[in-house]
Amino acid sequence: MNETGLDRPPADPFELFSQWYADARAHERHELTAMTLATADSKGRPAARIVLLKHFDQDGFIFYTNLGSRKSADFAANPQAALLFWLPVLERQIRIEGSVVRVSDSEADAYFAGRPRGSQLGAWASLQSTPLDSRATMEQRLAEFEKEYAGRDVPRPPYWGGWRLRPDHFEFWHEREARLHDRVTYALDQEGWRHARLYP
Ligand SMILES: Cc1cc2nc3c(=O)[nH]c(=O)nc-3n(C[C@H](O)[C@H](O)[C@H](O)COP(=O)(O)O)c2cc1C
Repeated sequence: MNETGLDRPPADPFELFSQWYADARAHERHELTAMTLATADSKGRPAARIVLLKHFDQDGFIFYTNLGSRKSADFAANPQAALLFWLPVLERQIRIEGSVVRVSDSEADAYFAGRPRGSQLGAWASLQSTPLDSRATMEQRLAEFEKEYAGRDVPRPPYWGGWRLRPDHFEFWHEREARLHDRVTYALDQEGWRHARLYP
């Protein structure tokens, strides 16, 4: 294996992702947690935004958000999405595509319970992606929830939860000399993961 693993790609793309995740932790200023999430609505109109990767394993990549947000509405109409990681210092890119499913309520509850109290109350106060007439209105909502939950644990709002992207496609890209970059894709079929190399 060379330093990226792309000269002899492993059979399992999660193995390669884990290696690059560890490389990012070792070399980048930040961990590999901020990722671009691309969705599309029922008419095929795309939208992209950053979300934070909170967990990954063979079952997929998990992020948390408001269930009334635009991204969540997109998933209701079209439960497919793409994730993009850019590792500028390492000159690498990872593209992931797949279908999305809701994280179970018990898993979301467990994650929410471990968040800082301020973030928990913020989740109640924010009606993400819906119009807000002024910041004061949101601060008022926050004050109301602070009062409501004073002296007790803050439960997860019913409109806040997690999504799991189950990949069926990966692409690992590494910058090389003279624009002859390395690109290795993985596609999932009934036999399992198959990898292939693409021209850059
Ligand atoms: C670094 C960074 C991290 C973010 N993490 C999250 C996140 O984990 N969950 C989330 O809902 N929004 C997160 N956001 C905000 C989203 O980019 C976006 O503004 C919000 O989710 C509304 O998107 P939507 O209307 O397309 O659903 C983050 C933004 C940035 C810049």
